Amino acid sequence: MNYEIAVIPGDGVGPEIIREGLKVLNVVSEKFNIKFNFIHYDFGAQRYLKTGEILPDSAIGELKKMDAIYLGAVGDPRVEPGILEKGLLLKLRFSLDQYINLRPIKLYPGVWTPLKDKGPEDIDFIVVRENTEGAYCGAGGFLKKGTKDEVAIQEDINTRKGVERVIQYAYTLVKKRNKKNKLTLCDKANVLTYAHDLWRRTFTEVGEEYPEIQKDYAFVDATCMWMVKNPEWFDVIVTCNMFGDIITDLGAVIQGGMGIAAGANLNPEGISMFEPIHGSAPKYAGKNMINPLATICAGAMMLDTLGEEKAAQTVENAVIKTISEGHIKDLGAGKMGMSTSQVGDLICKFIM
Ligand code: IPM
Ligand code: MN
Repeated sequence: MNYEIAVIPGDGVGPEIIREGLKVLNVVSEKFNIKFNFIHYDFGAQRYLKTGEILPDSAIGELKKMDAIYLGAVGDPRVEPGILEKGLLLKLRFSLDQYINLRPIKLYPGVWTPLKDKGPEDIDFIVVRENTEGAYCGAGGFLKKGTKDEVAIQEDINTRKGVERVIQYAYTLVKKRNKKNKLTLCDKANVLTYAHDLWRRTFTEVGEEYPEIQKDYAFVDATCMWMVKNPEWFDVIVTCNMFGDIITDLGAVIQGGMGIAAGANLNPEGISMFEPIHGSAPKYAGKNMINPLATICAGAMMLDTLGEEKAAQTVENAVIKTISEGHIKDLGAGKMGMSTSQVGDLICKFIM
């Protein structure tokens, strides 16, 4: 097969992790006879500071013609928080209508978890985060900004359509996984009695199509507790944009940290985007110290989504081998006992 992949390395450590991710995809290409045409885009802080441009609308048009997007990281200390996040990352998610943010929380054998007495058999679930609405939609504004009478409003918008499609996806994912056969709705229906009432009703209604799937409800605060205390209870969690953002950082920590956590922004009917969950980590930028495994795992998710399941599994197996055989000492930046590029080389060697 032939794929056109847009590559956006972005800011901070983005370029060096994407370099390793592409190295791995090139080896996969040879081994599995898959052709990739990588189209590079220099969106990010550097370009913004030079030209004032973040993500032109013309680029969105081009990206819509690709098969997938491979993204490094977004964010730079020289740019005020929110500008690049909203102008680049969220604009990509929204304008390509990537309504699913898929974040697997999976502890690989040999990875240290801060959870005492928990192992890979206990930590294996997926968070399905709504990715286009909620508090992220950017609706709101200020009144009397900067005065002592200031009012700031940030709307939390939940549409029936948006809620339904993410819940529908989550149910089908439970079926496809065929593991615990359980879907947990993580919400705050005891306080957000309008927004999350809509989530609950939709969850129940869509759930009628899936009588064989166990329906489970957990408030977001309790979800945080259970993720630490009894992560083995979870199979698939579906949740809103903001709660999904928060609980997946907790999830990343219990699966061994930001060095390994990967995510996918999916539009099942359109163009999807794959990225590590960690940010641009400016203090490590250019030092060849950061762990590229999260980006490599995001690459595996991209292969899987493109339908190249065998190639995806091979990459994942190489990651597992690198960790479980102790080739990499620790998943943290600067603690791996290897450089960023050496980790990439090793994965390539295990794939070949
Ligand atoms: C994430 C990030 C983003 C988010 C930021 C950078 C806008 O934290 O992908 O989880 O909040 O979605
Ligand atoms: Mn986040």
